[in-house]
Amino acid sequence: MKIVVIGGTGTIGTAVANKLKGDHEVIIASRSNGNYKVDITSVDSIEQMYKDIPNIDAVVSTTGESHFGGLSELTPELNEVAINSKLKGQVNLVLIGQNYINDGGSFTLTSGIMMDDPILKGSSAAMANAGVAGFVKSAAIELTRNIRINTVSPNVLEESMDKYGPFFKGFDPVSADKVSNAFLRCVEGAQTGQVYKVY
Ligand SMILES: NC(=O)c1ccc[n+]([C@@H]2O[C@H](COP(=O)([O-])OP(=O)(O)OC[C@H]3O[C@@H](n4cnc5c(N)ncnc54)[C@H](OP(=O)(O)O)[C@@H]3O)[C@@H](O)[C@H]2O)c1
Repeated sequence: MKIVVIGGTGTIGTAVANKLKGDHEVIIASRSNGNYKVDITSVDSIEQMYKDIPNIDAVVSTTGESHFGGLSELTPELNEVAINSKLKGQVNLVLIGQNYINDGGSFTLTSGIMMDDPILKGSSAAMANAGVAGFVKSAAIELTRNIRINTVSPNVLEESMDKYGPFFKGFDPVSADKVSNAFLRCVEGAQTGQVYKVY
């Protein structure tokens, strides 16, 4: 399969790309590194990616930014980060990509545990995570040409504990390898409309 991993230079994306590389042609995309530069907050950039990379079988998104901060300091402007990147950016990969991806292709998006298990300073990210999960379940019943869509909702990663550990006290972190197996199931499996929770 020809697979584009957007966010493929990040912690989760690197693990996913490495898992897929052995059996597939993997194109790594991000804003600044990898094989192709794309910014998911820009509709034009997404459209250009699909024009530049024809015949894609699977789109994997392991990206999407959110602002971490307490609710009383969360302004509408700061909330826009998660809306524009993690939510709208990933949704737009599907809305635009459905016109380009091959028959029988698949989309896999990234959500996250905060939508089910709230943490302090996580409401903006939780909003985006739940939005992605809801979109995936609903879009699955309307996508045509046997195109599938799923999302992976990871717990905090062992590899990210240096960065996110203070936010996730008492959580049981999961390995990037375990999370990337869920992405592998989305790409190589047959299910659609699923939220794979790796908690
Ligand atoms: N790490 C965890 O513990 C964890 C747990 C649950 C959920 N998640 C979610 O999983 C996703 C990935 O997390 P991560 O920890 O792997 O992140 P990360 O290490 O910071 O990597 C993010 C990746 O996305 C790319 N990127 C960022 N903004 C982009 C944009 N607008 N357009 C295109 N590419 C963009 C980055 O490259 P450039 O900067 O070059 O664009 C990089 O490749 C996020 O949505 C995060 O919320 C992470």
